[in-house]
Amino acid sequence: MSSNADPLRVLWRSLRLYVLCMFGQASTALASEPPLDYLHTNGPAADPVAHLAWGLGAISVLVTVVVTGLLVGAIWHKRTPSDAPKGDIRPRNNGLAFVYIGVGISIVILFACTAWTIETLAGVARPAAADRMTIEITGHQWWWEVRYLSPNSEDVFLTANELHIPIDTPVHLVLYGGDVIHSFWVPKLAGKTDTIPGQTNDAWIEATTPGVYRGQCTEYCGLQHAHMGVRVVAESPTEFAAWRAHQIAPATASTSVQGERLFVAHCGACHTARGLKAGGLVGPDLTHVASRQMIAADMLYNNRENLRRWISDAPREKPGTQMPNMNLSAQDLDALTDFVVTLR
Ligand code: CUA
Repeated sequence: MSSNADPLRVLWRSLRLYVLCMFGQASTALASEPPLDYLHTNGPAADPVAHLAWGLGAISVLVTVVVTGLLVGAIWHKRTPSDAPKGDIRPRNNGLAFVYIGVGISIVILFACTAWTIETLAGVARPAAADRMTIEITGHQWWWEVRYLSPNSEDVFLTANELHIPIDTPVHLVLYGGDVIHSFWVPKLAGKTDTIPGQTNDAWIEATTPGVYRGQCTEYCGLQHAHMGVRVVAESPTEFAAWRAHQIAPATASTSVQGERLFVAHCGACHTARGLKAGGLVGPDLTHVASRQMIAADMLYNNRENLRRWISDAPREKPGTQMPNMNLSAQDLDALTDFVVTLR
């Protein structure tokens, strides 16, 4: 492990980022992006769970208020020493009846909450309509591999950390674990489902409103667990069809011969760019990397400056990442960055 992964350094960076975010000055995505909101949802896989969360929350608050009121009342009306002989703790004034009533009410409420929870979880286990799309998602340290399946093998394509889906369409997610256990969670669209090595898990999402929905790995998976973000872009069926057709197409040929040579030499062993002599399977597919909103698993905005920083020394931006420092000259770094931004 490099010295960049020093825990104190990571702690310092996290604290600094937190303070910057608080004052809205962070250069990373976290500062101005919407929060991971699970209390206001936008899809049939998440809505019933949000209603359940609000309902159980309200019941819990009500119970706390009632119990606190009774407790304060009991303390207020404490019995005086003259009421009972010293050491006699038996309830007075038929007090035992209140214990029976209290336990009875609690049992009814708890059973109702349990039934509501079971009914909700059963209801969101499967979509009401048959799913019309299947996407395979594999959790890696620390990024998401995304594979769009198709009956036609030529239409299967890979991307990373950013899913596009058409609105009002149930999408079947098949979840795999690439190394350790991760958990896929896009709170506005569905609950959490783990990605476990050696096991296949199923989930589904559906968005009723167009928009960008942020997600996050929610199973602690190592140093950069907190920087294992994902986003779902929900768009109209027409926009989605255009996006999909573009993703299926091979990489757009760049005019820079030197940039392509550098890309194949330095990136091709780990990354794929379809159409180029780059077929590595270790890191994210980069065929259309420049068309994504973010890089580094939703950590940095996808612009030339951030891409250059990332290509230059990824472990400095994300300690622990498997992508090494490329040790490129400034000239090669610029040429390679100029090439990567053309992979639209
Ligand atoms: Cu992946 Cu936490």
